[in-house]
Amino acid sequence: MLEVKNLFVSYGRIQVITDFSFNVGAEAVGLFGPNGAGKTTLINSIIGLVKPRSGEILFEGESLLPYETHSIVRKGISVVPQDGELFPIMTVLENLKIGASYIKEARDKVNERLEFVFGIFPVLKERAYQLAGTMSGGQQRMLAVGRSLMAVPRLLILDEPSVGLQPTLVTELFEKLSMIKSEGVSMILSEQNVRQGLKVIDRGYVIENGTLAIESTADDLMHNEHVKRSYLGL
Ligand SMILES: Nc1ncnc2c1ncn2[C@@H]1O[C@H](COP(=O)(O)OP(=O)(O)O)[C@@H](O)[C@H]1O
Ligand SMILES: [Mg+2]
Repeated sequence: MLEVKNLFVSYGRIQVITDFSFNVGAEAVGLFGPNGAGKTTLINSIIGLVKPRSGEILFEGESLLPYETHSIVRKGISVVPQDGELFPIMTVLENLKIGASYIKEARDKVNERLEFVFGIFPVLKERAYQLAGTMSGGQQRMLAVGRSLMAVPRLLILDEPSVGLQPTLVTELFEKLSMIKSEGVSMILSEQNVRQGLKVIDRGYVIENGTLAIESTADDLMHNEHVKRSYLGL
């Protein structure tokens, strides 16, 4: 579905991604690494916010590099950015509808899509008429994910969705991500919280200083000595 090949990305003279390759099929893939490793830069490259210096990014065989972000989103890639970007003085329902508004296919079945999102996040249905900005941090994160799902993505990219959430809420949110995965949505999960992330993903890539450190299945990563020492505190 998505294939990133030999990607190099620089900000000015500073190279932050060096020869990074990864791929995503019908599965959930983890992108794990410490702060500053290059996870957001990779995500921004996929959705056209950052232009790579060299390399290739293919979505269903077609290069995404010539396209602007809005065209990439229309192809079926939706991102939950690290800093949510909800509309705080709009209701939950209005925020969700905006998620579908950019894409004709999604606009045409907005009610069906709302039922899908409410099925995963019942709290968003209960609070449909509440202003988004008045909800708790955990609920706002759920709304950000729900809004991305309104666009009927085939690939959902989440940039560190657990940041700032209490552990119980992280567990709840990641259970929802597992539900979304089981609905057949492919996923890239960028995380520093590797322990929780491993529960959701099928395979993962560890990125350190902009280069690939380890690539393996969730099971193997869980038992990898480097992962245990550096990310699981074992
Ligand atoms: N707009 C930018 N200009 C210059 N350097 C940046 C910019 N954005 C990120 N960086 C640098 O690139 C590196 C990777 O950052 P980032 O992709 O945000 O990592 P992560 O998401 O894994 O924390 C870091 O060293 C960061 O300081
Ligand atoms: Mg980041």
